[in-house]
Parts: sequence; C-alpha cells; structure tokens
Amino acid sequence: MNITKQHLLNEYSLDDKQLTQDTIGKGKLIEGDTLNVLAKIDDDVVNVGITSPPYNKQEKNKGWLVTNVVYDAYKDVMPEPEYQQNQVNVLDAIYRITAPGGSFFYNHKIRWDRGNMYHPMDWLRKTQWTVKQEIVWDRKIAGNIRGWRFWQVEERIYWLYKPIGDHLVGKELESKDAKLTSIWRGVPESGRKNPHPAPFPLWLPARIIISILGEDSQGIVLDPYIGSGTTAIAAKLLGHKYIGIDRSEAYINMTHDRLDKSQREKDKIQKEFDLHQVESTFKERKSKGKNVGKYRYPDKDNEEQMILLETDNNK
Ligand SMILES: C[S@@+](CC[C@H](N)C(=O)[O-])C[C@H]1O[C@@H](n2cnc3c(N)ncnc32)[C@H](O)[C@@H]1O
Repeated sequence: MNITKQHLLNEYSLDDKQLTQDTIGKGKLIEGDTLNVLAKIDDDVVNVGITSPPYNKQEKNKGWLVTNVVYDAYKDVMPEPEYQQNQVNVLDAIYRITAPGGSFFYNHKIRWDRGNMYHPMDWLRKTQWTVKQEIVWDRKIAGNIRGWRFWQVEERIYWLYKPIGDHLVGKELESKDAKLTSIWRGVPESGRKNPHPAPFPLWLPARIIISILGEDSQGIVLDPYIGSGTTAIAAKLLGHKYIGIDRSEAYINMTHDRLDKSQREKDKIQKEFDLHQVESTFKERKSKGKNVGKYRYPDKDNEEQMILLETDNNK
C-alpha cells in the first residue's frame, strides 16, 4: 500500500469523536497532543493499544549515560503529580475509545527521585482499567551505571483490560502465545538503525498483536505516542489497521516514511512468529500430565527470548 498524505491529520482537522471505525480507512497518523487527539476518536473503536509514553525523566536527573533521550518538540519535564494525573487522564481516554474486551499494553519503568520510588502502579490503580498482568521486559542493558542501587536492567509492561460487563478476566490466551512467559528478554532498538531517541524493537508490538488479535480477525491498533511508528509498522505487517498519535511533526513524518517501506521489516515479524509455536495445547498437555514447563533458549547463538520447554512433570 502506498501511504498518501491523506493519512496524515492533526488535532485541529477533526471534530470531537469524528474518527470512527468507518472513517479510519487503512490507518491514520495524527499530529497533536495525545489527550486532545483522543477526544476526536469515537467510543469503543480500538481493539488493542500499545505504547511507551514519555517517562518524565527530568532531563537533569537522567543519569550519567542517558544523555541521548532528547525528544523533538518536547521536554520530558513535569512536576511529578501533574505527570501522573496526565497519564491517568490519557489512560481513561483510551479506555473510552477501546471496545469492551479490548486491551492496552503500557510500557513504563520504576523511577526514583533521589530516595523516593515512583512505581507505575501508583497511578494505574487510579484509572478505570482492570490491571491484568505485569510483564518484566529484561532489556539486558543498564542506563545508569552507578551504585546507588543494583543496576536496573528491566522495564515493565502492564496489560490493562476493559471488561465485557462484569467478566473481569477475559478470554484465555492460546498456548502458543502464553508460553512466551511473563519475562520478555531483548535489547532495545539500536540508535544506529532508528534515529528516534527511544524506539521499541519491532518484536515487542508484534508479540502483543499476534497474541491478542490472533491471525484470523482484523483489528484496530492504537499507539497514542507513536514516535518512529514501530506499533503502526507491526499492525500493518500483521494485516491490521492503526491509529498513531504524536505531538512531533518530524516523528509523524518518520512514521509515514517507514510505513511506506514497511515490507523491508517483514523478516523481523517472521522471527517473532517463529517463537509462537507449541507442540500441544493446554488441554493435550493436561491430559498427558504435562503441567510443568522448563525454560530454555530456543537457539543457543541467540539468547534473546527464552521459551518454555514442554516437558514431563518429573524430568
Ligand atoms: C518513548 S517515545 C515512543 C517511541 C515509540 N514507541 C517508537 O517505537 O518509536 C514517546 C513519544 O511521545 C511523544 N510525546 C510526548 N508527549 C506527547 C504528547 N503530550 N502528545 C503526543 N505525543 C507526545 C514524543 O514526541 C515521543 O515520540
């Protein structure tokens, strides 16, 4: 698909709730403040969302080595209570536009202001979402190599769920997806490959979309802080529609150009697909008494994501 500039909108070109399932086409990229743009989207439109928001890292306290995370058109500095309230407002706006049964995956991290820890759960509990799971993303790299604490190598990904009625648990994942476990290992995207200061690796949104939307249905995937467009690329390559929002015109244009050349990134999606394999389903495993799984790396030369080895209980 050739993306035309008609896919590009901004927060002033839309009325409230004007963007609907019928008007989204194959996808939309919208420049503007995410809270203002979310108001332009109709209720219950999105099936799955994935994002990494700005972390409010207070430029001067970022730590020794993290000098390169400087955003276009934005300073990552807010009084912390204001930042947390803004995130609650954004998450509640996303809840409104998500269809019941839909999910949102929120990547964040534990931060400290001198001795004081800020944990994402501090504000997630104040939103309307049901918090379904905390996934640990082992990034295998530390951003601040001082000894005030053990080096922090992980970030978190919160799986938030919008229930259908009062059924808070939702539908079960397939075995081939659930076996990827609650710890995801993989280094962040290299700055040499992507000029954005903090991009996702493509496998991350791909894993979520494959696991949540499956292969048979077409869904609408949202990233309210789209940056260099990684979530939109994954959605497009997996056959879904996307909504991407960013306040930086430069990043919206970057996403637009990357979508145009998305076929070049297809092999990374295939690599992720290859991990979603299972020898037997939950039911078959249970009938054979195989209820326990052990960890191994699928490929000795590539120690990125460990997977569960389907093993007998006692081996
Ligand atoms: C951590 S980056 C997201 C990177 C993205 N996951 C990727 O793969 O490239 C956060 C993005 O949020 C954008 N941003 C910050 N504040 C915003 C706001 N209020 N509204 C919309 N976008 C915002 C920044 O411009 C930046 O591109």
